[in-house]
Amino acid sequence: MQILPAESLRPYNSLSLEASAAALALVDTDQELSKALDWSRAQGLAVLPLGQGSNVVIVDDLEALVVRQQGTGFKVLGESDHEVSLRVSAGQDWHSLVEKTLGQGLYGLENLALIPGTVGAAPIQNIGAYGVELDRFVRAVQAMDIETGEHLVLTRQECAFGYRDSVFKHELRDKIIITAVDLCLSREPVTAVTYPALQAELDDSGIREPTPRDVYCAVVNVRRRRLPDPAEEPNAGSFFKNPVIEQRQAEALSREFGSMPVFVQQDNRVKVPAAWLIDQIGWKGHRQNGVGVHPGHALVLVNYGGDSGKALLQLAADISASVSERFDINLEIEPRVYGLPQ
Ligand code: FAD
Ligand code: EPU
Repeated sequence: MQILPAESLRPYNSLSLEASAAALALVDTDQELSKALDWSRAQGLAVLPLGQGSNVVIVDDLEALVVRQQGTGFKVLGESDHEVSLRVSAGQDWHSLVEKTLGQGLYGLENLALIPGTVGAAPIQNIGAYGVELDRFVRAVQAMDIETGEHLVLTRQECAFGYRDSVFKHELRDKIIITAVDLCLSREPVTAVTYPALQAELDDSGIREPTPRDVYCAVVNVRRRRLPDPAEEPNAGSFFKNPVIEQRQAEALSREFGSMPVFVQQDNRVKVPAAWLIDQIGWKGHRQNGVGVHPGHALVLVNYGGDSGKALLQLAADISASVSERFDINLEIEPRVYGLPQ
């Protein structure tokens, strides 16, 4: 195990924001993680698990031990003719897992291709894209209690997954570190192609009965076209969640703004793309204080060199205020913000 003092976090967050941590621990095993937690208790430091930093806004230096798990790969827990259960280490890169499982004839994760980040972070916001969310594959989440070092196992039900939501954002926020995720994948070549942009991509390619690999390729193509690469334009993906509003309000807005895309939920409430709301007001391409709204996607805020988490939060607040004024809808920031005064 390595514990590095006063480490810069710029290489470890996709917005490329400069901030330092009191210390950074690089751990390879659960035993090393346990030792790192002992060390943090002895130093009186808070603990902050970080994956690839693709869903965080670090506003200021952190008086914390940042822990990065480096263990990768998976082992088979059980299999039948139809499915296979895997235990995947927290440090595993998500997209490489999608590629590897697809290559081995284990299906389901194709729609989630190219989502940045680690397997350990995936359950935190129940990653989702192109009509599929992680929770449908999760059997259990393995974790370590930060305070006691105790090993915990959470069933899928106990994870309380929702849209960009889980128990890890509520009761278990800052209390545990996920060490592995147990997933169940299909040996049958099942596909999910109801998401409009995915359907359109497959139609354009003339594919009527897509295989899982066709879906994977279509998702990769759409994402490469639509979303900026953080290595070139530092960003954290969607900066806001898509708001879910009451049917009555959605109908009123649809009457006023005919082209508003809507996604009716199981409970009949309606999810509205925040990107569309922000785009309507004309924010796309806007820049202020070295940060801005990506010209290609209104939900993506970019650090153009302003290098300030506070400037990003100010831009987000300005956008939210204008959306609230125009549509009477409140936007919620999606990435976790660190370094603000408590
Ligand atoms: P980090 O950013 O390092 O951490 C995020 C949060 O999880 C932090 O609060 C951190 O403390 C906590 N955390 C991390 N690891 C652990 C652990 N092992 N145990 C406990 N807590 C932990 N998300 C989607 O859902 N769908 C998308 O389509 C999507 N597209 C994106 C596109 C781009 C270009 C970018 C930059 C981001 C996108 N995201 C998307 C967001 C991001 O990829 C996911 O939230 C991802 O799961 C974050 O993984 P990470 O390892 O980078 O987590
Ligand atoms: N749109 C606009 N203007 C834009 C961009 C999009 O009007 O600038 C419209 C599109 O035309 C479309 C709708 O908004 O009708 C939705 O756009 P898109 O398909 O790009 O999806 P999104 O709602 O913006 C969500 C997720 C993404 C995920 C995609 C695909 C959230 C907060 N974001 O984005 O996740 O990849 O769907 O499923 O739910 C992330 O979380 O970081 C992320 C990128």
